Amino acid sequence: MIRLTNVEEWVNNSINNIRGQVGSDKIVCGLSGGVDSSVSAMLVHKAVGSQLECIFVDHGLMRLNEPELVMNSYKDMGLSVRHVDASELFLSELKGVTDPEQKRLIIGKLFIDVFQAEANKTGGAKWLLQGTIYPDIIESGKGSGLVKSHHNVGGLPEHMDLKLLEPLRDLYKDEVREVGKFINMPESFIKRQPFPGPGLGVRCLGELNKTRLDTLRQADAIFREELKAAGIYEDIWQSFCVLLPVKAVGVHDGNRTYGEAVVLRAIHSTDAMTAEWVKIPYEVLDKTAKRICSEVKDINRVVMDVTSKPPATIEWE
Ligand code: XMP
Repeated sequence: MIRLTNVEEWVNNSINNIRGQVGSDKIVCGLSGGVDSSVSAMLVHKAVGSQLECIFVDHGLMRLNEPELVMNSYKDMGLSVRHVDASELFLSELKGVTDPEQKRLIIGKLFIDVFQAEANKTGGAKWLLQGTIYPDIIESGKGSGLVKSHHNVGGLPEHMDLKLLEPLRDLYKDEVREVGKFINMPESFIKRQPFPGPGLGVRCLGELNKTRLDTLRQADAIFREELKAAGIYEDIWQSFCVLLPVKAVGVHDGNRTYGEAVVLRAIHSTDAMTAEWVKIPYEVLDKTAKRICSEVKDINRVVMDVTSKPPATIEWE
């Protein structure tokens, strides 16, 4: 691991290294809409242009309207990206699975399967580009004990005959953002909060199905809207909702309800290795909770996560 001292020099070296490594080979890349995979794709695009082919595997576990927003941004950045809607396949394979590591492993494996099938259609690719960054390697147990199986680390199955290209593997998140800014990626994209590869799969605790995912999406969108309206969204490293695997009793229009419970999670961090929970103003919490309970049909309880990392992790699963 190195710390980035001169971005321009780092970018120039990286572009030269990429060119030296891949020559005239074709490269394929799975984009997720995240900063890491997108910055690495733009970097490689700068280095070898159309030798890079990007595939966006839509696992159906993205936030509200995110696939459309992300695809439009890629188009604006000049990247050529194929959108593959695999949401039904992911949901059917995840049916009945509640164990967090199982979910991660299924999502990770399916992602590779779908991606590989798509990559094969491209033909002739020799390299796989991945947006792995330094904390991913540490947290996946390559440097210390296993915390979670990150879906963008872990190597490739034997039968996937591609070499791995990981231009960001020595960088921390803040450094990845500096690189993105330097290579002229839009601010709105670089400032996107980190989003885990398995997406809402690890934020929808317990059973995963379309109804529960949609419920989570709506609550999550409201939380983000309220943080933005309060002008504090951009100062927060990550903020999101988590749907709990328990139900709670409530009352609506004088009638008893038995509905879903959602957690608000917001943390400050510089590298995701440690994190502090954010002291969001009470008025913002109050408005968010009221809106969620009145606008999202199945939710009747909103709670706030006030644990830092450690001892908690940022995500719940
Ligand atoms: P945790 O929950 O381990 O998360 O404290 C640390 C950071 O990593 C993100 N995260 C992931 N990112 N693939 C990713 O690309 C994953 O499987 C994954 N799991 C967690 C998490 O959102 C936080 O920023």
